[in-house]
Amino acid sequence: MRKNSSFFHLFLSLALLLGLTKPDPDPLQDYCIADNKNPQSFYINGAPCIDPKLAVSSHFTTSVLSKPGNTKDNPFGFNVTLTNTVNLPGLNTLGLSMARVDIASNGLVPPHLHPRASEVTICLQGLLLVGFVDTMNRVFTQQLKPGDSFVFPKSLVHFLYNYDSKAPAVALSGLNSQNPGAQIVSSFTSKSPIPIEILIKGFEMNDLDVAEIRKNLGG
Ligand SMILES: *[C@@H]1O[C@H](CO)[C@@H](O)[C@H](O)[C@H]1NC(C)=O
Repeated sequence: MRKNSSFFHLFLSLALLLGLTKPDPDPLQDYCIADNKNPQSFYINGAPCIDPKLAVSSHFTTSVLSKPGNTKDNPFGFNVTLTNTVNLPGLNTLGLSMARVDIASNGLVPPHLHPRASEVTICLQGLLLVGFVDTMNRVFTQQLKPGDSFVFPKSLVHFLYNYDSKAPAVALSGLNSQNPGAQIVSSFTSKSPIPIEILIKGFEMNDLDVAEIRKNLGG
């Protein structure tokens, strides 16, 4: 009986572990360089590939992460540059992407989540306070200096704050999806506004508060 139950626990842990760490589906060939030239009249899950005979080294390289993003026009003072199938066509179907995160002094990448990816981030420059919230509402935070890394589990709300009031910060992230997606946790600025009654009840505030927050966030 005891043996059975420990076997069951092992089986369960393995199943959970495998299920939770899956990146995008495995490619069926060496690579599938995204075909960005021929506009498609149909939609598939990912991007179609070019003829593998036409593959060249430049399909597998990009310099987009070499340049700092402009943080001045962003109300929170951050700018994320992400590799994708357009600026790095060779990453199509490989189940990964990278992001350069520039954060102005005391700037914030506000609480957000990636529905399709876990993220590992390394602080390259500056001082960061990073953290995430788990589904039991526990918060895990850490201060990072250059060279320190932190992981954000898939789909959990997380943030990056530059707690240095004088210098900008730079972080580099790896994500285990070619298209991680990002959702900022702000119910106030969706494209077609969430009904005001929902915000008033959901956040226990009045209509003036909702209007002010919407205005501050530019929504
Ligand atoms: C991020 O930086 C790039 C490069 O400077 C700029 O073109 C882009 O508009 C910036 N994005 C935001 C949201 O400010």
